[in-house]
Amino acid sequence: MAAEKWVYMVTAQTPTNIAVIKYWGKRDEVRILPVNDSISVTLDPDHLCTVTTVAVSPAFDQDRMWLNGKEISLSGSRYQNCLREIRGRAGDVEDKDKGIKIAKKDWEKLHLHIASHNNFPTAAGLASSAAGFACLVFSLAKLMNVNEDPSHLSAIARQGSGSACRSLFGGFVKWTMGSKEDGSDSVAVQLADEKHWDDLVIIIAVVSSRQKETSSTSGMRESVETSLLLQHRAKEVVPKRILAMEEAIKTRDFSSFTQLSCADSNQFHAVCLDTSPPIFYMNDTSHRIISLVEKWNRSEGTPQVAYTFDAGPNAVLIARNRKVAVQLLQGLLYYFPPKSDTDMRNYVVGDNSILKEAG
Ligand code: DP6
Repeated sequence: MAAEKWVYMVTAQTPTNIAVIKYWGKRDEVRILPVNDSISVTLDPDHLCTVTTVAVSPAFDQDRMWLNGKEISLSGSRYQNCLREIRGRAGDVEDKDKGIKIAKKDWEKLHLHIASHNNFPTAAGLASSAAGFACLVFSLAKLMNVNEDPSHLSAIARQGSGSACRSLFGGFVKWTMGSKEDGSDSVAVQLADEKHWDDLVIIIAVVSSRQKETSSTSGMRESVETSLLLQHRAKEVVPKRILAMEEAIKTRDFSSFTQLSCADSNQFHAVCLDTSPPIFYMNDTSHRIISLVEKWNRSEGTPQVAYTFDAGPNAVLIARNRKVAVQLLQGLLYYFPPKSDTDMRNYVVGDNSILKEAG
């Protein structure tokens, strides 16, 4: 086979993750090092995910990338840092069936084509960059035969987008902020796998799929510069909450889990309000969803549903079990009726059968 004829490719699928103790604020913007630890839950890979195909061929004359079918620039430092780190760890690759042999040293000269697709709204506060960079790093690591454990890969994905480091694992994941200047100890670790607490059902109510006005990156920069509440949160509040959340997850204590998740989401949005100029990620519908859940939890005596909102108005609702999830979905459909049948897409549920039961 003529050397320039072959293309070698790998496809990977990576789910997004939702933080229940939020990352908000960097101490190092270039290496993407956070001001506090965070904890997230990784979603079911079949629902909100990124699928990325990475290809290498001697016929490619430059690195190129397409996101949702549109070519994007790879010149930004986030992409460049991920590509450099992965190339630096590349190994020998041999595919005997296809007659392809790539030596470790060849990776510096070879160019890549990358096609990435999100099955959910990009940059609408549904952590698209988390799934995107995690999938990019994971697929490149497979393509280039990089032999590193997921925590080491998480430190590379972190340099693409902070929250991406947590999507290298399923289940409940903690991103330890670390203390080293080079960021080598700022990595994700799995707290519990996806089977540990599989009663939980996550429903995402897509309040708006419009692109947010203030990106997480610039929002958190402004919060670090101007919010006193952020300093207090990072130093005094989050360290204690992380310990309590680890315990709640370990013991499957839904009451503590709910109290901590809701309080942390509300404090994150309070930090946004405490930023100058203030940042408004939630809207009236988000606030109405919070009131609905709070009232329901109070009337039941014990919490049934936890809520958390990222940098956007969409609600992430975590029901304690399937029965509660069905009731929750019925409540959402009653109070926030979809305007048309196709608007049913506005509810993303962790399990399709829930939709059928509620319908
Ligand atoms: C509110 O990871 O998107 O979702 O590191 O600048 O890319 P960059 O920010 P990003 O911020 C996520 C913020 C958050 C909370 C979280 O996921 O922990």
